Amino acid sequence: MTDLTEKLARDLETARQRTLLLTDHDEPELLRQHSPLLSPLVWDLAHIGQQEDLWLLRRGDPRREGLLPADVEALYDAFTHPRAVRARLPLLPPVEARSYCAEVRGRVLDRLGRLGRDDDGDPFDVAMVVSHEQQHDETMLQALAVRTGPPLFGAGTPLPPGRPGVAGTSVPVPGGEFALGVDAADEPFSLDNERPAHPVDVPAFRIGRVPVTNAEYAAFVADGGYADRRWWCARGWAHRVEAGLERPQYWGPDGTRTRFGVVEAVPPDEPVQHVTWFEAEAYAAWAGARLPTEAEWEKAAVWDPAAGRRRRFPWGSAEPSPALANLGGDALRPAPVGAYPAGASAYGVEQLMGDVWEWTSSAFTPWPGFRPMLYADYSAPFFGGDHRVLRGGSWAVDPSILRPSFRNWDHPVRRQVFSGIRLAWDA
Ligand SMILES: [Fe+2]
Repeated sequence: MTDLTEKLARDLETARQRTLLLTDHDEPELLRQHSPLLSPLVWDLAHIGQQEDLWLLRRGDPRREGLLPADVEALYDAFTHPRAVRARLPLLPPVEARSYCAEVRGRVLDRLGRLGRDDDGDPFDVAMVVSHEQQHDETMLQALAVRTGPPLFGAGTPLPPGRPGVAGTSVPVPGGEFALGVDAADEPFSLDNERPAHPVDVPAFRIGRVPVTNAEYAAFVADGGYADRRWWCARGWAHRVEAGLERPQYWGPDGTRTRFGVVEAVPPDEPVQHVTWFEAEAYAAWAGARLPTEAEWEKAAVWDPAAGRRRRFPWGSAEPSPALANLGGDALRPAPVGAYPAGASAYGVEQLMGDVWEWTSSAFTPWPGFRPMLYADYSAPFFGGDHRVLRGGSWAVDPSILRPSFRNWDHPVRRQVFSGIRLAWDA
């Protein structure tokens, strides 16, 4: 095996170990629908195998015979079955879902050494499937966060302490052109919506050094922010009233929060998470700020003004590590602000990778010159819709799939995502 196929085999294995850990529960648990916004875990499990079967064993051609009968395979089409109804489908029982995934994986590994030859697939497609599995692992964690009942996990692995004095501070980013997005030559496993790299002129702005904390957000709540229409856009206010939003998801009225079945005091120095885009925008308005655009976010994250080029990661070229960012999901929570001074970008912006997905003000649109990848419906059906882009990854994202150019998107009313806020200001 080459270095590349060894790396792909390793990434496939890492993703699978995580999937199996997250689905290592009894059958009733796996069949539970925790929220209309999230699938029962057993659906995610077989869907992971089904997508791997489709993209890697059949090169995306659904007319070619897969390992499941066509009517069973159809149950795992995310576009035809909304999440809210998946628990009512005649899904494969967990034992069969696991053995199906294992059978697909065995055949994929058999072919790995022949990648790039004829019909045996492309290394990019394998990386895309790794990304797909890891992204579903994150949505499974979203479901497990909502889940009620005795906790399935411990308290999470320990995180470095925060630094006092960084919350609420900001750094300037001078105006000027930078390269937004990436090319396959530099980031061969970047997904279609991250490409191509293109110059964008970004006027000078300021950006939060760290994400908004729970303590800062609690001040907005205590100040009557949820009752004051001034801070909300018309649609945001209508949603706030209709959905009865009074505080972030999982927060109680008594200063506690309940997630993963654990009740605890809301940690003041942790980045706020589980807010909708509308809440993020209202908070920013109350704070005399705004959300950053995607271009601002990415420039603050990767541009090295002294060198006149992008860095691979905010801190440089080193691969992510526990000293640089909170990723991978084991912590089960974001790290307190200031925990990663070594992970700062050239402009001094911290905690861009990991911890919380950061809402931007931008709608999800293609970069000029966009070309769809093999999984052509990954991005394109969502362009130009009502989605807003989130950047940077959360604590639940595996480092093997994350880049500063990675774009996530969701509806502005959604907050099952590990979503948080970073503020920006015009200079
Ligand atoms: Fe999927």
